[in-house]
Amino acid sequence: DQRREVDQLLSPLRLSRSDLQRVQALMRQEMDLGLGKETNARSSVRMLPTYVRATPDGTERGEFLALDLGGTNFRVLVVRVAEDSIRMASEIYVIPTSIIQGTGVELFNHIVECIMDFQLKQDLMEQILPLGFTFSFPCQQLGLDKAVLLSWTKGFNASGCVGQDVVQLLRDAALRKQHFTLKVVAVVNDTVGTMMSCGYDDPKCEIGLIVGTGTNACYMEEMRNVGTVEGNEGRMCINMEWGAFGDNGCLDHIFTNFDQMVDEKTINPGKQRFEKLISGMYLGEIVRYILLAMVEKRVLFRGKPCPKLQTKDIFQTKFLSTIEIDGLALKKVLAILRDLDLHASFEDSVLVREVCQTVSLRAAQLCAAGMAAVVEKMRENRGLDQLIVTVGVDGTLYKMHPHFSQNLQQTLQVLAPKCSVTFLQSEDGSGKGAALVAAVACRKAGP
Ligand code: BG6
Ligand code: GLC
Repeated sequence: DQRREVDQLLSPLRLSRSDLQRVQALMRQEMDLGLGKETNARSSVRMLPTYVRATPDGTERGEFLALDLGGTNFRVLVVRVAEDSIRMASEIYVIPTSIIQGTGVELFNHIVECIMDFQLKQDLMEQILPLGFTFSFPCQQLGLDKAVLLSWTKGFNASGCVGQDVVQLLRDAALRKQHFTLKVVAVVNDTVGTMMSCGYDDPKCEIGLIVGTGTNACYMEEMRNVGTVEGNEGRMCINMEWGAFGDNGCLDHIFTNFDQMVDEKTINPGKQRFEKLISGMYLGEIVRYILLAMVEKRVLFRGKPCPKLQTKDIFQTKFLSTIEIDGLALKKVLAILRDLDLHASFEDSVLVREVCQTVSLRAAQLCAAGMAAVVEKMRENRGLDQLIVTVGVDGTLYKMHPHFSQNLQQTLQVLAPKCSVTFLQSEDGSGKGAALVAAVACRKAGP
């Protein structure tokens, strides 16, 4: 009957505690492999050094420009770090898809045009402010201000950038646009910017997490464990690029047919497989494929064909966030479905809600399994019985979804009982963190 059919479809998405423990153990294995010297031992988790060696200590000062590229919004900011306060002004600029998937020259020209517009509006044209660049893609960093793009992720695909230093691409564009006073001093991943931003308020914040368009994490690792950078003293922040976890096949047992179909229709099939189970760019798509299967099995919409449901990205992740609100009147769910031309009954909307819950719960639990590997590693590194640590978090899915953060925290507690983990939501985005990194870079470089 109907219930059996539904359970049969959803059961591959329901993960047991031991499934999650296995994911946690695999993540740990891939972390160790990624940190090691052996470059031919290919880990799917890249564990990229960031050259950020400490979280903020409160002595950072100055006035900085910051860029924030790679999330939902592209932002240009000016950040003023004083003794007792940080003040910021920012502007969101639209980057059309044609540019995001056009040429690198066009993309970086556009970025410089936005910077110039911002400087003009803020009356900052005459000053030379050091700039911190939040660039939320995997980069091989060779220093604080040198970052070679390894691959695009999420929806980005501008040509001629992979293999290039993105700071140089920005500088080249500045010269083309005759902007001779652009001074880029640091590039950071958004996870790093978020950790630094939250770290300014909470010194225990030594982990950064993003659950937005994409997902990723960074944390403070012991230098002695970082085989890819010289030196054994102190710590360095590692950008895990955990979105790519599983790209070597190690998570194949977790992927369902639905995940397979979502992956195949992206611009980077086979890549960012963990991210495609968790982040905002993909959850709605997973739900859409499940709903299609349910229609086919005639357990949804009385089996009536739904042409509109065939359209890619029609079921957006923000719908999950609304549909899953506790006590939301079913009428509201119906309204969302009717807006999509889906003629749903009350029973249909109950079922759609169950699908959304299943998909978002799995996402939160998998994210928790990843985080459990991170905090357990930090605890071991420091030889502690109990680790107390804060995670700085950002991202639309984490912030907007009614249950994601709670599911994440509950599962994490089960998987890493010896760690007491506080999640601190970033209110200022990662631009503030990029400015703090820039401040440290400027101090090192001297006056
Ligand atoms: C923003 C940060 O608040 O969150 C960005 O400033 C980050 O750096 C973004 O990339 C992630 O969330 P989303 O949902 O915009 O991808
Ligand atoms: C993608 C990017 C990564 C970023 C994450 C969150 O996974 O590769 O660098 O941190 O999205 O924005």
